[in-house]
Amino acid sequence: MTLEVVILAAGQGSRMRSSLPKVLHPVAGKSMLSHVIDLATAVASDKTHVVIGHGADQVKQCITDPAIHWALQSEQKGTGHAVAQALPAVSDDAQVLILYGDVPLTTAETIAKLIAKSPQKSATEQVSLLTVELADPTGYGRIVRNSANEVTAIVEQKDASEDQLKISEVNTGIMCVSASALKRWLPKLSANNAQGEYYLTDIIAMAVSDGVAINVCQAREPMEVQGANNRIQLEELERYYQRRYANQLMLAGASLADASRIDVRGQLNTGNDVYIDVNCVFEGEVTLGDGVRIGPNCHISNSTIACNVEIKANSVLEGAVVGEACSIGPFARLRPGTVLAAEVKIGNFVETKKANIGIASKVSHLSYIGDAEIGCDVNVGAGTITCNYDGVNKFKTTLADGVFVGSNTALVAPVTVGKAATIGAGSVITGNIAEGELAVARGKQRNISGWQRPKKLARD
Ligand code: UD1
Ligand code: CA
Repeated sequence: MTLEVVILAAGQGSRMRSSLPKVLHPVAGKSMLSHVIDLATAVASDKTHVVIGHGADQVKQCITDPAIHWALQSEQKGTGHAVAQALPAVSDDAQVLILYGDVPLTTAETIAKLIAKSPQKSATEQVSLLTVELADPTGYGRIVRNSANEVTAIVEQKDASEDQLKISEVNTGIMCVSASALKRWLPKLSANNAQGEYYLTDIIAMAVSDGVAINVCQAREPMEVQGANNRIQLEELERYYQRRYANQLMLAGASLADASRIDVRGQLNTGNDVYIDVNCVFEGEVTLGDGVRIGPNCHISNSTIACNVEIKANSVLEGAVVGEACSIGPFARLRPGTVLAAEVKIGNFVETKKANIGIASKVSHLSYIGDAEIGCDVNVGAGTITCNYDGVNKFKTTLADGVFVGSNTALVAPVTVGKAATIGAGSVITGNIAEGELAVARGKQRNISGWQRPKKLARD
């Protein structure tokens, strides 16, 4: 038995009030639709179909996975009609899992349970519904059961009777149905209902009359099956996602100063005894080794931080590799291509870019280090700048082991400074310096004695 997933993503989402199609709105930095496509992959979908309509071109442009089968629903005539658009490309013997492009946080565990309700090898047709109990079921399709507690129908809010409206078990929309049955039922749907739509949910009554078994699996957590129709719901999904992620981090050995003040938009791998202070944002793939401490208000993306590094408040790291026991910040900015060996110190108001910095070297204050190769035990004084750019080309600065750069030095690249060389403060270095040399490149100081400052005229 193969599993094919059909994701409905044709709706407009007008309540978002956005030029972006609803399913492209992000949760945790990733479009809702991408979350759902990843879910399909996680439950081993053999073939994934996405039904698009509103903003179809924009959606296709954003989702570049070549394995996706696109189906166009040019007019939105209901969920049953939407599934029907994908059906011709679905093989007859498949189980079809129906997901929604605006319901991003369902877990693979829940879906696996739902799929397990339909015996995989049996040739008999099945319908498995994912339902959920809601304190306030308003707006949802209600699960109608008979006296034997068997599901007999799903009734939409707008078509429900007084008594049916009291049912708190609702349809999440997510279901798993044999393709052969769908192919028989969908052409029989009618739009003769309060919304004039072809309801996918009407197949339940058809299943009952065909004697097809209906299995039910209940989602434990309503947020798992919650969709986003407006930006308030989108934010609720975001907060739920972030809290769930924060809990995972804590269980994996990271201490968080405040689990409600961390945002992970991507993947954050943490070692044991990691400490993360408030208001940190992580993007892309970030790895923090054992014992790493992150101060408040840090923004870290696509970086690898080795054990026992301390990143102090308000630092920004992007595409950086940081070696063991380094100390970064406060207010440091490490840009792509920064590679720090162990025990490097990058202090406040220091920006690095494409910089390889060797063991135990220090750039402690107010510097720009770009396109640089720096050895071990180098001390870069406050205010040192690599002048790496002539307006057209970038050039490299090389400082060998043990170099001492005096404060406020301008290193005009390309330039190479030999081992243990010293540069006097305030120098503009335009030529190479050999091993052990002292270079001083600044105006000589003149002292003029008896100098009279100009005086202001006395006011009368
Ligand atoms: C649907 C269910 C309802 C369930 C609820 C859960 C039906 C008839 N009703 O109602 O039982 O409780 O979801 O949220 O299925 N879509 C299309 N094309 C269409 C219509 C919808 O792609 O022609 C997509 C939408 O973009 C959306 C999803 O299907 O992602 C659900 O559609 P929506 O109109 O929101 O269904 P509900 O009325 O909420
Ligand atoms: Ca809906």
